[in-house]
Amino acid sequence: PSVLVLNGPNLNLLGTRKPEIYGSTTLADVERLCRDTAEQLGLELEFRQSNHEGQLIDWIQQEGPRVRAGESIGAVFNAGAYTHTSVALHDAIESVELPVIELHISNVHRRESFRHHSYISPVATGIIVGLGVAGYGLAIRALHERASAAKG
Ligand code: DQA
Repeated sequence: PSVLVLNGPNLNLLGTRKPEIYGSTTLADVERLCRDTAEQLGLELEFRQSNHEGQLIDWIQQEGPRVRAGESIGAVFNAGAYTHTSVALHDAIESVELPVIELHISNVHRRESFRHHSYISPVATGIIVGLGVAGYGLAIRALHERASAAKG
């Protein structure tokens, strides 16, 4: 099966955007890290980024049925700023019952108060916050463990 890693707005700028907060790792580096982790676990990796809310919704809608068909184990989702604004992303995840690990590179709870609320958290399977880009590997492992446990 595969695992989907989904990145929202401005994450294409990783490495140059506020390195004091997000580090100097680029999104291409994150993709490599994810590919290594997926490979170790025997998973295919789908790694995507979009600045467009509707595109992210389309990808979420497509992934739900794939999980039920046993083709995917779910998604790691860094929704970027849409985390704090998007009822539509919340509804998409809920509608297709997609297992999602919500991920933030930075510890959003140490930052501005507008980053403290998440529309994704109530529909997430779990949340990884503030562990840097290493969180991506941990999130893939968590989805893999969850899928293995479900299989018994
Ligand atoms: C982020 C945190 C969000 O508040 C911010 O808008 C981002 C990145 C993170 O990974 O720490 O774009 O999701």
